[in-house]
Amino acid sequence: MAKENFGSKVGAILAAAGSAVGLGNIWRFPTETGEHGGAAFIIIYVAFMLLLGVPIMVSEFVVGRHSQRSVSESFCMMSGGRRIWRLMGLIPAVAGFLVLSYYAVVAGWTLYYTYATATGQLAGKTPEQFVSDFNAFSSDPVQPLVWMTILLIINGLIVALGINRGIERGAKIMMPLLFIFILILVGCSLSLPGAKDGLTFLFKPDFSKVDGHVVLNAMGQAFFSLSVGLCCLCTYACYFRKDVNLMKDAVSVGTIDTMVAILSGIIIFPAVFSVPGITPNEGFSLVFITLPNVFQQVFASMPTLAYFFSLTFYLLLVMAALTSSISMLEMPVAYFHENHHMSRPVATAICTIVCIVLGAACALSFGKWSNIQIFGMTFFALFDYIVCNIIMPLGALLTCLFVGWVVDERVLKDELTNCGTLRAPYYPIYRFIIRYFAPICIALIFINCI
Ligand code: PHE
Repeated sequence: MAKENFGSKVGAILAAAGSAVGLGNIWRFPTETGEHGGAAFIIIYVAFMLLLGVPIMVSEFVVGRHSQRSVSESFCMMSGGRRIWRLMGLIPAVAGFLVLSYYAVVAGWTLYYTYATATGQLAGKTPEQFVSDFNAFSSDPVQPLVWMTILLIINGLIVALGINRGIERGAKIMMPLLFIFILILVGCSLSLPGAKDGLTFLFKPDFSKVDGHVVLNAMGQAFFSLSVGLCCLCTYACYFRKDVNLMKDAVSVGTIDTMVAILSGIIIFPAVFSVPGITPNEGFSLVFITLPNVFQQVFASMPTLAYFFSLTFYLLLVMAALTSSISMLEMPVAYFHENHHMSRPVATAICTIVCIVLGAACALSFGKWSNIQIFGMTFFALFDYIVCNIIMPLGALLTCLFVGWVVDERVLKDELTNCGTLRAPYYPIYRFIIRYFAPICIALIFINCI
């Protein structure tokens, strides 16, 4: 089937960066950093990103771009026609549904908080009210479902428009806006009284908090944040043009992703340290309970600034969540569109409906269905566990083994050098990492965390 391509190199980078930069950077990264020793966690995270994340991303790019077909066909074709590798196509199809279903719940919360901030509903609340409001909202049987559905429909409309008109155009509009919002917020945050303490917390490593569990979390965070392991970037790379420099793009995406994560820390921690009595390790509720409270207290004498700061922050979250969830939906949509010859709008509609149903189960995990547990986990926690602890490391491991050991080395070199037109001095290191280092690291960590 003839494929649509990203129209420009910039479009390809922005779409991949859009997938990478998401709630994982702005919500999960500061939470993990706050809980696991500030800069100590960041150092381990950056090491994983450089040594594992970027090489795996390059490998996904190579597979996707080489055949410019669906993930299953790419793997089958590059293995010399071994049909067993077609099964790899199931990873993005299944993982896309699972990851989007719980991600959309949190993305829906961000949409609600944007609305509540814009309409002034968060103004004038006490710290206790922020807690009770969040608990009441997240456990409500209807509201979170409605916001999640709105988000998934917007998402579906963008994906249904196709690669150029939907995904690429969406990334070209949303990514620059996202950077502008981040810069505004960093400026505001650095002028707060707690800026020095916040930055010290973020950049002064506390290695006493580092143990095996922290190392696992740092790897999980690096994979999730870069969107690697689910063949999501492989799906996107099918639409890359032949002149895209795969290594350069992967390094750019990794750099943008890490910068956004660290800048989010620079936005959040100075704000948190500006209010006495609030600790940086508030976990899950950091973004939805602590921050609205912090914004309000920090700007107590300037309500307009509080309004502006909060609204910009939640808009940033919505934008980041959307660009990532687009890539999540594209995984199953591409599967059905290409493997089962469904039209793109029909495939998008069906996948969106499935995600709304599965997402409803995840949304209800915080209220009515909190007592429904499978292996001791709610639907939300179970989906997160399956994606982050099982499918992601497994997908990453198989991708490394495939590119390192199965793919013909000439094909690999051709892809990395664009048929000899680019230099690839990093090649021996890259090949060593994907053949030996990455599979061993992932296997060890994988075995440990199951
Ligand atoms: N990288 C995204 C984020 O940081 C999440 C994501 C995971 C997107 C897997 C696509 C695939 O939020």
